[in-house]
Amino acid sequence: MKILLTGSTGQIGHEIIKLKPIDIEIISPDRNQLDLSNYDSCKEIVLKINPDWIINCGAYTAVDDAEKDIRLSNQINGYAPKAFTEIINEKNSNLLHISTDFVFDGKQSFPYEENQKRNPLGQYGRSKALGEEFIENNLNSIENATILRTSWVISPRGKNFILTMLKLHNEREEINVVSDQIGSPTSAHEIAKACWKIIELKKKDKLPFILHWSDAGVASWFDLAVAVGEIAKELKIIDKIAIVNPITTSDYPTPAQRPKYSVLNTFNTSKLLKKTPTHWRKSLKEILCEYKKTNHL
Ligand SMILES: NC(=O)c1ccc[n+]([C@@H]2O[C@H](COP(=O)([O-])OP(=O)(O)OC[C@H]3O[C@@H](n4cnc5c(N)ncnc54)[C@H](OP(=O)(O)O)[C@@H]3O)[C@@H](O)[C@H]2O)c1
Repeated sequence: MKILLTGSTGQIGHEIIKLKPIDIEIISPDRNQLDLSNYDSCKEIVLKINPDWIINCGAYTAVDDAEKDIRLSNQINGYAPKAFTEIINEKNSNLLHISTDFVFDGKQSFPYEENQKRNPLGQYGRSKALGEEFIENNLNSIENATILRTSWVISPRGKNFILTMLKLHNEREEINVVSDQIGSPTSAHEIAKACWKIIELKKKDKLPFILHWSDAGVASWFDLAVAVGEIAKELKIIDKIAIVNPITTSDYPTPAQRPKYSVLNTFNTSKLLKKTPTHWRKSLKEILCEYKKTNHL
């Protein structure tokens, strides 16, 4: 089986490659070989490689910058998945597209179901919702694509909240972190495992068009910042923990509005994949252990 992976240098893409089964060939062009903002290139590369699956992890993920990069974020997060959909229709191949909890408005206080209405608050969420809609509206057969929504991705590498907090615990006496946005921190490693299970299952079973995957448990950014300090200190990655002060979203204005509550209901996916979500705190410890090892600390 041949797979075209986009976003291989990102958090999830990196883990997808790490967990690749031996009988699978992955072709993972970087942004110089495939620019996702170039609609025609997205089509051309699929025609050239002729993969059985496209795993689309590549995305414009800078939530605040997207507010001013409307065209570029729509091209990468909306039109690239559209181009992939048009080609898989022609080739009868498959698409696994990664999407986000930010397609929801966060106005409810219980986990979001797969079939709930999208209502993004910011441009990043709107561009990701556009990608989902393009796939949904252009796909010839619903069986050829799966949208896997996930949330608050964490890993030992890349640009993410964990690494930012590690640095701040080290450098500062006190840090202020938002405590009124709630989600599920989710390990990129666990998402990659779910992706490979989806591909394996799809060989013999039908799966719903949209799936939700997150680690177990919920947290605010404040909870996550506190946990990073505690676990990193316990693992001797940092010498001291900063005082973490909870603040509100209105105390920390950002260009993009974010959902207050974006927990995904993963019950269906967990049952279908026969995979129990790991608690985010356990994932966080594994991530920090790997960080310590790879950075020789
Ligand atoms: N991060 C989160 O908290 C989060 C939460 C929910 C869902 N998701 C979704 O999960 C998926 C993967 O997220 P992630 O955190 O792994 O992303 P990431 O670490 O930010 O990586 C994004 C990837 O996309 C690539 N990319 C960006 N623009 C590109 C372009 N024009 N052409 C080609 N490649 C381009 C990047 O390449 P470079 O290395 O060259 O920049 C990188 O490989 C995305 O669909 C995202 O929407 C993420």
